[in-house]
Amino acid sequence: MPSLQILMIASEAVPFAKTGGLGDVAGALPAALARLGCGVTLAVPRYRGVAGGTPLTRFPLTVGGRTLEVGFVEHPLADGARAVLVDCPELFDRPELYGVGNADYPDNAFRFAAFTRAALEFAARHDLHVDIVHAHDWQAGLAPVYVRTLYANHPELARAALVFTIHNLAYQGLFPPHWLPALDLGWDLFGIEGLEFWGKVSFLKAGVNFSDRLTTVSARYAKEIQTPEYGCGFDGILRRRADRLVGILNGIDTAVWDPATDPHLPEPYDADRLDRKRSSKRALLEAVELPSDDQALARPLVGMVSRLVEQKGFDLLEKLGERLLALDASFVLLGSGEPRFQDQWQALAARAPSRVAVRIGFDEPLAHLIEAGADLFLMPSRFEPCGLNQMYSLRYGTVPVVRATGGLDDTIVNWSPRTGRGTGFKFADTTPEALLAALRKALEVYRDPSAWRSIQLQGMACDYSWDASARHYEKVYENAIRARTKRP
Ligand code: ADP
Ligand code: GLC
Repeated sequence: MPSLQILMIASEAVPFAKTGGLGDVAGALPAALARLGCGVTLAVPRYRGVAGGTPLTRFPLTVGGRTLEVGFVEHPLADGARAVLVDCPELFDRPELYGVGNADYPDNAFRFAAFTRAALEFAARHDLHVDIVHAHDWQAGLAPVYVRTLYANHPELARAALVFTIHNLAYQGLFPPHWLPALDLGWDLFGIEGLEFWGKVSFLKAGVNFSDRLTTVSARYAKEIQTPEYGCGFDGILRRRADRLVGILNGIDTAVWDPATDPHLPEPYDADRLDRKRSSKRALLEAVELPSDDQALARPLVGMVSRLVEQKGFDLLEKLGERLLALDASFVLLGSGEPRFQDQWQALAARAPSRVAVRIGFDEPLAHLIEAGADLFLMPSRFEPCGLNQMYSLRYGTVPVVRATGGLDDTIVNWSPRTGRGTGFKFADTTPEALLAALRKALEVYRDPSAWRSIQLQGMACDYSWDASARHYEKVYENAIRARTKRP
């Protein structure tokens, strides 16, 4: 089979832009596919502050009667993989990716529809010989619809097989239906089998209904989203399309997340030099202005790097409140999100300034130092499609305490003193009490250095690199191509 040509469309990708795991995934998957011999063009918006690259072309693009001047700038990613940044300052030269604070930009429907259109138009004009259009999350959800409508007669794009990846079903790209004409979408698409979702247009539903194959980012989440509890209203649709849905666990970028080479750590370490992890702990305590004397170094340190939202279990932590302070542990939290959770953690830090440190914001170097310097990493998510931080933690010898859901359940093995096997601590119930019990158990085992070291080493031996996942995607692409040939 000749090498597959893939047009990947994602609203964020490292190193250009990132607000969460999608950025990590879209930044790493193209290179992993290229290592298998695929040719990948990744389209990403050119947001504010992204410089460099080679200008390829510019052309006017008309969307819903509005003409935009769009440029395309190439950045090589790896041999066989490149990013093409879609440059349209009036849409993307803004302070943030999706909105300021907790308010989305009011024209996000237009911004991401136009971005998707630009990506497809670029492929259409440049003879990319695209075999696969692979769109990620709601921002790119219209790609399969546009391929099947606006490009239905294009000699190449019309033949492309369509793959859509759900990174988070809770973000559905819902907009009032009056947007349809402004996005060149016909009213015939506004039906239950099309884009309509409870009276609104859903970009996510577009991706789900018009693609040949659907993937999500862990096997467990692929099952969960077919249930009413986790389906966010999509469970029925997904059950009907279950034969084309698969879960593929994300990999991690093992070059970026490697304690042996991480430039953000004071001293490198690995499984053979695990004692050196202590200098990261000291550096972290100093960086967040917690005491770093021997007593503080001996006390277990719980790290968190997260969006502060209910998905991540912050309401469970909120209910625990000061009960957390009764534990013999210190806490470092980095993140931003809902004001109520920011306030709660800042209040905890004010109450126990020697044991709780909070940094509100996005800080890549500090995220690395937390992964290295903490003893435990807490992810009490209500749902977690995949989750990357627990995999980074495993690699850094930082023991995850997680709720058994989605990718957290698929990647962490609960410690069993009986068998001596395990890489972390898991709890099942979505209750503050279950969370507290798991933390207590972890802190108890922490006092047994040989058990703790065994958990650390088992975690560090796990392999969650991208290669296996990329092979899985390649299979999905082949299946999508077969499905495409059967489509009318
Ligand atoms: P999600 O995409 O749901 O937010 P993931 O675990 O998949 O969760 O990915 C989150 C990614 O974003 C990780 O790479 C994590 O380190 C990073 N991240 C999240 N919040 C911050 C922050 N405040 N500062 C730096 N990195 C962050
Ligand atoms: C989403 C999910 C997260 C996943 C990430 C990358 O943001 O919330 O669990 O790891 O996408 O797939």
